Amino acid sequence: MGEGDGGGRAFIELDRVEKVFEVRRRTGLFTRRRHEVRAVDAISFTVARGEMVGYIGPNGAGKSTTIKMLTGILTPSGGRLRVAGIDPARERMRLAHRIGVVFGQRTTLWWDLPLIDSYRLMHRMYRIPDGRYRENLDRCVELLELEDLLNTPVRQLSLGQRMRGDIAAALLHDPEVLYLDEPTIGLDVISKARVRRFLRELNAERGTTVLLTTHDLQDIEQLCSRVMVIDHGRMMYDGPPAGLHEVGRSERTLVVDLEREAPPIVAPPARVVRVEGPRQWLAFPADASAAPLVARIAATYPLVDLSVREPDIESVIATMYAGGAGGAADPEQGGLVADGRANS
Ligand SMILES: Nc1ncnc2c1ncn2[C@@H]1O[C@H](COP(=O)(O)OP(=O)(O)OP(=O)(O)O)[C@@H](O)[C@H]1O
Ligand SMILES: [Mg+2]
Repeated sequence: MGEGDGGGRAFIELDRVEKVFEVRRRTGLFTRRRHEVRAVDAISFTVARGEMVGYIGPNGAGKSTTIKMLTGILTPSGGRLRVAGIDPARERMRLAHRIGVVFGQRTTLWWDLPLIDSYRLMHRMYRIPDGRYRENLDRCVELLELEDLLNTPVRQLSLGQRMRGDIAAALLHDPEVLYLDEPTIGLDVISKARVRRFLRELNAERGTTVLLTTHDLQDIEQLCSRVMVIDHGRMMYDGPPAGLHEVGRSERTLVVDLEREAPPIVAPPARVVRVEGPRQWLAFPADASAAPLVARIAATYPLVDLSVREPDIESVIATMYAGGAGGAADPEQGGLVADGRANS
């Protein structure tokens, strides 16, 4: 730490950040038209030191573009951006010593070299003090189970092994913040669990700030207490993962087994969404209690068994996209605000 590190509160700070790409599209045999892609559109948020935040949205939403601006790879077209008090685009090299990045889609490791050689190169490139390098390497090797892979050329590693190798590479210089762009993409269940456990420990023990992009909503549910959703470059939601259910007007499902087939159960506000023989599915608002509903059904219908199914965040986000696209979130409060439905 030192002066100008952004202090304790806002470690990452974006104020109406924009990124516009100019692309040329062919319109005829010899004609092309220039047009603009607004990949990130006036995004504002702050992340405090030590937070672990999810950053999600559909394909092309602007997630990777945001992360590239946070590392200084891309320069914003507008707005103000600071990481640890540093303007990433202006002082990319100075910032590089304080951040770590993992792009799940491509590796930062040297393809033909054994894993350990990539680490040795980074040791020198980042001028990491020997003691710290050894300590960080040992820790990563142990927690990410890399021991048997250190002498294998990167191109021979499986995707999951390579990803663990990349995560270790991003952490050798003790970064204060780690950006992960789809770190669990293509990993099997066991590798995902291993990566998640590692990230949880890293965040808890070292206080490393983590910004995580993913399409696997279990990553978010298991790791993050806060999630931001973007779509078409705009912030749609900023708040706890559970709050997505409210914003998405999500529903829980009561699955009821009756003694015998019956006409659809009438029990508003629940409504029957599916009937299969003696089994019926009733959707009801996720924030309503199931107890009175169950009591009412039990009093009038020959009930044998029942269960309640929670909504998954994925379907919630789909509802949100369908209903609230173009809405803007208020990062101060969490939740959608544009349509006046939020935050309560
Ligand atoms: N270098 C570029 N030149 C032109 N357009 C770009 C460039 N990089 C990204 N875009 C466009 O900007 C938009 C946002 O892309 P971005 O890669 O940030 O999305 P994403 O949220 O990471 O998506 P995904 O989930 O598919 O990784 C897309 O429309 C994309 O086509
Ligand atoms: Mg991306």
